[in-house]
Amino acid sequence: MTDLSIRRASAEDLETIHKIEKECFLSEAFTKEQIEYFLAAPNVINLIAELNGKPVGFVTGSLEKYEGEVVGHIYSVDVLEKYRRRGVASRLIEELEKAFAQEGVRTCYLEVKVDNIAARSLYEKLGYRAFEVLLNYYGIGAHGIRLRKRLSNPSP
Ligand SMILES: CC(C)(COP(=O)(O)OP(=O)(O)OC[C@H]1O[C@@H](n2cnc3c(N)ncnc32)[C@H](O)[C@@H]1OP(=O)(O)O)[C@@H](O)C(=O)NCCC(=O)NCCS
Repeated sequence: MTDLSIRRASAEDLETIHKIEKECFLSEAFTKEQIEYFLAAPNVINLIAELNGKPVGFVTGSLEKYEGEVVGHIYSVDVLEKYRRRGVASRLIEELEKAFAQEGVRTCYLEVKVDNIAARSLYEKLGYRAFEVLLNYYGIGAHGIRLRKRLSNPSP
């Protein structure tokens, strides 16, 4: 894929990100207010993927303190259905990991629904490994898994 670019999102991207989020999630989508908060929060990194200038996906993650260490916590990665299986989500996460690494992060976490096969396969491929089962995390009977990746040799 030659014309894929990744850039930091700004407040002007609120509508775009909200639209992508609504298209990707029938339920459990972040609200516009939540996205607005993410775009303004100093500890949150929001990246947008553009294909030939068209926004097709985004990733959001925050820098958090966990057991005395600054870690990266990936909240969401979404790619419009039409543009999936082209490596967009992989690039977004790789770029987020680089941004995290520049802030001193060595470990990334994320949560995913047990039945989200696409996302679980993506994370597995990128080196994320399960370490905690989260019973009823997404509602009664909707279990989650917490995954972790050590950024031992982050890319420059
Ligand atoms: C999960 C999601 C972000 C993947 O985006 P994507 O741009 O298609 O992912 P990539 O092209 O980078 O895929 C990388 C690898 O992930 C795996 N993968 C991605 N989608 C998959 C699917 N539907 N089924 C099985 N494996 C899949 C494959 O190993 C793939 O590599 P390959 O295409 O060479 O086989 C996308 O399906 C999506 O937006 N889903 C809805 C939102 C969502 O569930 N987000 C995750 C919330 S935790």
